[in-house]
Amino acid sequence: ARAQIGVTGLSVMGRNLARNLARNGFTVALHNRSVERTRSLMAEHGDEGDFVPSESMEEFVASLTRPRAVIVMVKAGAATDAVIEELTGLLEPGDIVIDCGNTHYTDTIRREKDLAAKGLHFVGTGVSGGEEGALNGPSIMPGGSVEAYRTLGPIFEKIAAQVDGVPCAVHVGPDGAGHFVKMVHNGIEYADMQLIAESYDLLRSGLGVSPGHIAAIFREWNRGELESFLIEITADVLSHEDRSTGKPFIDVVADRAEQKGTGRWTVQSALDLGIPITGIAEATFARSLSGHVDQRQAAQRTFEGRAGDVDPAGVVEDPKQFVEDVRNALYASKIVAYAQGFDHIQAGSEEYGWDIDRGAMATIWRGGCIIRARFLDRIRAAYEETPGLESLLVAPYFADAVAAGVESWRRVIAAAVRAGIPTPTFSSSLAYLDALRRPRLPAALIQCLRDDFGAHTYQRVDREGTFHTLWAGDMSEQRVDK
Ligand code: 6PG
Repeated sequence: ARAQIGVTGLSVMGRNLARNLARNGFTVALHNRSVERTRSLMAEHGDEGDFVPSESMEEFVASLTRPRAVIVMVKAGAATDAVIEELTGLLEPGDIVIDCGNTHYTDTIRREKDLAAKGLHFVGTGVSGGEEGALNGPSIMPGGSVEAYRTLGPIFEKIAAQVDGVPCAVHVGPDGAGHFVKMVHNGIEYADMQLIAESYDLLRSGLGVSPGHIAAIFREWNRGELESFLIEITADVLSHEDRSTGKPFIDVVADRAEQKGTGRWTVQSALDLGIPITGIAEATFARSLSGHVDQRQAAQRTFEGRAGDVDPAGVVEDPKQFVEDVRNALYASKIVAYAQGFDHIQAGSEEYGWDIDRGAMATIWRGGCIIRARFLDRIRAAYEETPGLESLLVAPYFADAVAAGVESWRRVIAAAVRAGIPTPTFSSSLAYLDALRRPRLPAALIQCLRDDFGAHTYQRVDREGTFHTLWAGDMSEQRVDK
């Protein structure tokens, strides 16, 4: 046995991870259910490093040095369970199974427990960066035991993206912590993309300019604090022309956004934990809405000419100022989305006892992953300065950025509302900020109503205790013990 790490499941992500490992000097055992994939990897890239191909799981396991470390890169769900089952029959105590798929963290918690009972380590690992990242340096978010990370850390840190000499890989926390953080990463990715899409829609309708023109605006934005991978590729996409029709490419693509589920999982988990991740939720629902084609067509017909909206061009007085306003609104909304995502990570960490370092998460997202962005450095710095920060929004840098952009933000939303351009994520993010900073919320009325119709009780601002008013009786107030 001589391979230091193995990869089973050699479709594009597994294949690229294996090549990345080999290119970084590790001896990599290869396995795939159908041997053709293993053979084609060897034929096409066998010279990139030291690979040990095998044609059976037994041979694969036997080719690994101990403790054996096996990356499983198959479809999340039943396929992962099947491979784990096959593997565990062959592994020995102390060996490590690494799941690099987009797995739900509760599955990871379950598997970690099952494998720990057999003396095996199970490391649910979030990997971001798509195909390109897997090959050239992804962002890696491993959960599992500290002991397993002792073996895997040097490998992961070597193959991960590096920013300022710091690897984009760190031990996130026990069992499901890595997959939880990857899930929230994807939720933030949804919000980020929806905000960019809303910005594009506003610019296109408000300015009445071509996608190519908007691409130039995004390119310009990418030189400032918005600098990020997603803004960069937005400019690329918007400047692309369709080969067959010559039209802007964006205009020939069906306007129905799909999803594989990680955004939905993020929202579901946030609902359970009671964390208002409104930006991510709106972004996820915006994708669902786009897919309801029949309803969209019916509404289009029904409200034609009678929805009270004005010509978008009419809401833009000063095009230059409008572009600046959209930029500011985008940045402020983005800060809200990240603030909410990091709150969600904190809540998960507390619920499951993971002790996740939020600053470290911002650090490993600076490179390799889909949401890599310049401003993640600011998030890292904010948590370094104040580890128990109540919200990213109140960290001085972000508070100043939001305050500086808030007038633009209000102008853009007001214009969008008048012109009938939907900006759910812009709008809900501003509503979140306004709600957070409001001295009194109408939640008091909700409490009264609940108490009225269901005796659900309430607390008072001037006295300790829990109370109920006899709304249907003499309106007297009783103190109740809860
Ligand atoms: C990443 C991406 C990756 C994948 C998303 C796409 O971090 O590399 O997030 O995981 O592209 O899962 O998700 P949707 O299909 O739900 O948009």
